[in-house]
Amino acid sequence: MSKPFYQINTESEYERACQGAIEQPEEFWESIAETFHWRKKWNQVVSWNFEEPDVKWFLNGKLNITENCIDRHLKDKADQLAIIWEPNEPSAEVRKYTYAELHREVNRFANVLVKNNIQKGDRVCIYLPMIPEAVFAMLACARVGAIHSVVFAGFSSRALADRVEDAQAKMIITSDGLLRGDKKMLLRNIVAEALEMCSSVETVLTIRYTGDVVKTNHLDKWYHDELKSVSAEFHAVETDSEDPLFILYTSGSTGKPKGVVHTCGGYMVYADYSFRNVFQYEEHDIFWCTADVGWVTGHSYITYGPLLAGATCVIFEGVPNYPDTARFWQVIEKHRVTQFYTAPTAIRALMVSGSEIPKRFKMDSLKVIGSVGEPINLEAWQWYSDYVGKGNCPVVDTWWQTETGGIMISNLGGIGKHIPTFAGKPLPGIQPVLLTSEGKEIAEKSAEGLLAIKYPWPSMIRTTYGDHERCRQTYFSAYHGYYFTGDGARRDEQGMYRIIGRVDDVINVSGHRLGTAEIENAINEHDLVIESAVVSYPHDIKGQGIYAYVICDKLPADEEKARKEIHFIVESIIGKIARPDKIQFVTGLPKTRSGKIMRRILRKIAEGSTSDFGDISTLLDPGVVESILKGKI
Ligand code: WTA
Repeated sequence: MSKPFYQINTESEYERACQGAIEQPEEFWESIAETFHWRKKWNQVVSWNFEEPDVKWFLNGKLNITENCIDRHLKDKADQLAIIWEPNEPSAEVRKYTYAELHREVNRFANVLVKNNIQKGDRVCIYLPMIPEAVFAMLACARVGAIHSVVFAGFSSRALADRVEDAQAKMIITSDGLLRGDKKMLLRNIVAEALEMCSSVETVLTIRYTGDVVKTNHLDKWYHDELKSVSAEFHAVETDSEDPLFILYTSGSTGKPKGVVHTCGGYMVYADYSFRNVFQYEEHDIFWCTADVGWVTGHSYITYGPLLAGATCVIFEGVPNYPDTARFWQVIEKHRVTQFYTAPTAIRALMVSGSEIPKRFKMDSLKVIGSVGEPINLEAWQWYSDYVGKGNCPVVDTWWQTETGGIMISNLGGIGKHIPTFAGKPLPGIQPVLLTSEGKEIAEKSAEGLLAIKYPWPSMIRTTYGDHERCRQTYFSAYHGYYFTGDGARRDEQGMYRIIGRVDDVINVSGHRLGTAEIENAINEHDLVIESAVVSYPHDIKGQGIYAYVICDKLPADEEKARKEIHFIVESIIGKIARPDKIQFVTGLPKTRSGKIMRRILRKIAEGSTSDFGDISTLLDPGVVESILKGKI
């Protein structure tokens, strides 16, 4: 293999890389890994089995990912901007950090962590607004070899406590307050509630940001105080390729969220590789991903991917519709953004305000625009391409998951054919397959089936924190010898994939992933509720909405009041993102004789069907369907 497949810029390079990756996968990944700075090189590229599962990449390699994100750029990019922070308020001051400044900030932060007894392998929970310190905190953890667990700062105190407890986090890094659009939340006070429910935390490190008065206690340290006595030098701690880099909690079809574990070496290689190639990164590009660092998209394409590539990355604190729906376009114009990466739900919401708004802005700096998190419908795709890309930019529809660590299926910006609503082909090195429900690989090109991956890739999930068996059960047990994604997909004659959506009980609301069981458990905590069943239904803006069927002791006299109470409970147990859009009180649920809820029927009713429920003869009480239909909201 002659040229490293580090950067793929043409269709023939793409073809050659795909072929190389199939014929000689180890050489392929090795040629990419060699472009990084390792303190000690690996002695084996990969070892794997999907039974246990046991997957390792770049075995016995030693590195620190932050030396690759920061230090190695200092030679020729010390004065180049690494981060441009755009605040929630358009009139507030933009903060900018060069690579040299980022180096200093991360070193100081790392010193604060060590001073507060954080060592290699310790878990640190990060619960912060989208301020530069969120990225510094992640990198500082990585620099000292600690494992970060970022929790989206829209999750409730209870959800935060569950995650802190599961990871046995020793420290929580938070701020006094958070700004999001016209709302303010006092994060430190939410942490105070969470602390009552968990026991492992030794220090709360609070960043003064909004200046609000918040509850503190004996665990507290103010970040600005701690900074006073630390140096701006820090020698990064050496980690093994397979040491955990972070835990990120995500929802599955059962029970509580699970902590997906990613490791230092493989994740690094794949975050950089996928970033460069999907977005066709070039020197001096200004990359903007609108996600929050609380989600995997923020991990791989705000913090790690762009910095590994030495790019300039915009971090945005705000929301798309504050102070008005021109905000995104204004930021693109202001910072001359070259790649823009957002979610279909944002595009759909902004479409509603009309194409006149983006037309007012000069967005000719854009080269590639991307979509992530949920299927993008044709109308939104077209609007995005016409009015944001101005007919000039390839749209990359990127399919991936928290578990995959990086983009798996996507066309590479401007290379080869792009078909609207098709994510496209796998990145070279990724080997997806479509399976029948019996787990048989479908050989025909043009087919529909369950999406699975048959060969490991460097940034794949290694385990679910503290419960390896759960990892095996969830992803590796249903279809022997494959990683199962939970998604269904269609493939066309040319091998392009179109993602249909989840085939399990995971729903995707505004690109946020939620388990129906998780929402049901929250609803069931209401005193009057006996049982509930949550399904999704198509929603114009959110993609999917949440429809809850709720059985109460007796039907509530004041349904509106009961709905409000249920909203309140769900918001306090999970967060606003899980609040049901529709709540229907019912007297029974369609159950089989063995007691299993037939969700298929509930989904159909929520979608608006009034007939064609298929075979309902196995229902214990078929009359239930009629009665639910009568009360449909
Ligand atoms: C869905 C987000 C269609 C999918 C990166 C997947 C998508 C889940 C796309 C993972 C896409 C993500 N087209 N569906 N381009 N990207 N999904 O873990 O159902 O928050 O399984 O990761 O989002 O969500 P997660």
